[in-house]
Formats: sequence, C-alpha cells, structure tokens
Amino acid sequence: MRKETQCVHSGAIKDTVYGGVNSPVYTSTAFNYLDRERVAYPRYFNTPNQTAVVEKVCALEGAEDGVLFSSGMAAMSTAILAFAGAGDHVVMMDELYGGTHAFATNEFPRLGMACTFSATDADAICSAVRVETKVIVIESPTNPLLSVIDIRKVAAFARERQVLTIIDNTFATPIYQNPYGLGIDVVIHSGTKYLGGHSDICCGIAVASRQHVERIRKMALSLGGSVNADTCALLERSLMTLAIRVERQTENAGRLAHFLEGCQQVRRVCYPGLASSPFHELARSQMTGFGPMLSFELESERVDPARFVRKLRLIKPAVSLGGIETTICEPAVTSHAKMSAAERQRIGITDGLLRLSVGIEQADDLIEDLEQAMTI
Ligand SMILES: Cc1ncc(COP(=O)(O)O)c(C=O)c1O
Repeated sequence: MRKETQCVHSGAIKDTVYGGVNSPVYTSTAFNYLDRERVAYPRYFNTPNQTAVVEKVCALEGAEDGVLFSSGMAAMSTAILAFAGAGDHVVMMDELYGGTHAFATNEFPRLGMACTFSATDADAICSAVRVETKVIVIESPTNPLLSVIDIRKVAAFARERQVLTIIDNTFATPIYQNPYGLGIDVVIHSGTKYLGGHSDICCGIAVASRQHVERIRKMALSLGGSVNADTCALLERSLMTLAIRVERQTENAGRLAHFLEGCQQVRRVCYPGLASSPFHELARSQMTGFGPMLSFELESERVDPARFVRKLRLIKPAVSLGGIETTICEPAVTSHAKMSAAERQRIGITDGLLRLSVGIEQADDLIEDLEQAMTI
C-alpha cells in the first residue's frame, strides 16, 4: 500500500460483530487473563486501540514495532532512558526542541549521565561521540530553525561505533521522511502535532525494530505514560487524513515562504523548500517533501514582532503546532523559553524569530493576513 492508503487502512481493527467500517473502541482497562498468553492493560502498552495506531504509524515509517505514549516527551525521555543510564554519555544537538534540551540539562546530572550539545551538523555530531557514548539524539528539520541534518551520515557513523540513534521526526512527519529506512534506530514523534493534527490530543510514539522496542517497552512499564482508548480512537481517525493534511499544509508553507522571502520587512526565512536555503539539496536527498513548518525573522526596526503577532487576524498566536489551523509563536518566549538567552542568541533563536505552523486554509487568506499585520 502507498502512504495515503496506509493512512486509511493500516492497523484497523476489523469489526467482526457489526461489520462497521471503523475500528471498534475498547475502553476497558481490565481484561480477562484466563487462558491468554499476554494480558492486555493500558500501561502494558498492548490494548487493541493502542496496537491499532502503532501498526498504522509503523506502516508509515517502515518500522517493525512501536510504543504509543501520553506525550512526545514521554516517548523521548523513555527511549533515552531505555538505552542510557549512570556513567553513560549522550550526544544531542544544540538546536533541538526545548523540552528535550531541558530534559538533558535538568535531569541528566542527577541520573549520573553526561551530555554534549554539538553544533547542528552531522560532522560535529559524529566528532562529539566518545567511548562512553551510548545514544545520539537528533532532530531534522529542527525546531525552530528548520536546519537539516545529514541523517544517513549520522546513522552510518553511529552503527559503526555501536551507538544507538534516536531522531525526533515530528517536523518532517512520516509522510515526508522515514529515518528508520535511512539507518536510524528509533524514530520519535510528538503525536500532539501532525499525527493528531487537530490541536485536541496529547500523545507521542516511538517506533523501531522489535528488539529495540522491547527495551523501550520495558522502561515504559516502569515510567508509565500510557494513553487511553479514547485518545487512541481520535488519533486513529486523525491519521486517516495525515497524508492529505500535510500535503496541503506543505503546499501552503511553500507559498508563504516565497511570499515572506520577497518582503522587505523580513530579514530571513528558514524553510528547506526554498532554493536559497543552505539545506535545500540535503533536504531533497532525504525527504520527499519539505514539510509544513517554517520560521522567519522580521526587520525589528521596521516591524515590532510582538506587535505583528497581535495584529494578525486569522493566524492564531499559540504554543504547539501541527494543527489544521495556522498558528504562530515566538520560540524565545514559548518552546525555547527554558533555554538561556545567551544560548538562544548563540544558535540563532533571536527574540524576533517567529515560527509558523502552516494550516490547511486557502494560502491567499494567510498571505493577506501576514501582509496587513506588517503594515504600520
Ligand atoms: C519537535 C518536537 N518534539 C517533541 C515535542 C514534545 O511533544 P509533547 O508536547 O507532545 O510532549 C515537541 C513539542 O512542542 C516538539 O515541537
């Protein structure tokens, strides 16, 4: 099956009783254990509706198995702790989702773990690896600067050194990038974003080989972080439209990126789909589409970013991303607020940087909204 078809059909539970076309929703948290090899229980991550969405995402990512979590951070933290502990070293990039950065900064020292934040570049990531390195965590494209990492290069190097690789694939979505096939061991998504797609559920997922998923599931059993059947059912419904949603969102993102690039009031636009992006060719070599996220920086002498955001009529200022509605945020005071101001400046997350999560609206309406908010 192709992706659009997998979105609709993979993993679906057959309704053998009534013949309904949708997966039945099993809300039970207690299941009969007699005469069963494996008893189902939400925190064992094996209920029917959990399994249905895991199978669908595994089909889309080309992975063997997975674990569905109550948030993207639950997926990321559990996966890291499944493969690294006291005495171990982890390599991360300085540009990555603020929550992942904060997890390493705040919790690793207490756990006896060390972390190097390398520059956001495959060679720098590889040279940060030491003998004690157990895990490399990358994100591509990154939040919020949309930098692209050479995934094949990092994966090949790590395999040779027997270091486990984890990627946050949230921005690319499984429609446009499948890192498992490029050699990455564990692929993570914040399901709260594109997989959920309607800004109304919080969940996360980790997919990998059966062997790696066994270790993640074992850690997950202790840490908890499971989701109930209602969230699974909403997620399954959302996944059915994932391909068509992100295709439309990406088309809109391309139009908005070109528009912004032509605006005098805009200093820079970060979008790998632009021919002027330093990541354009690399993105083409490992993604099948450039995705729906972009960021841009206003000439703050011409337009005050805070005022601009308040002047928008259609585009909503909101934390989070990936919904069908277009939203905007200032990473310096939202997703990356926990990072020190000096660190943000160093990597280019300026106070005037704005991150756009492009929705499925008609692009002309979005462009008109951006245009009117730029006029003084
Ligand atoms: C790229 C990325 N990864 C992970 C997360 C964490 O996801 P969650 O909020 O579902 O825990 C986020 C949240 O904004 C994100 O943007």
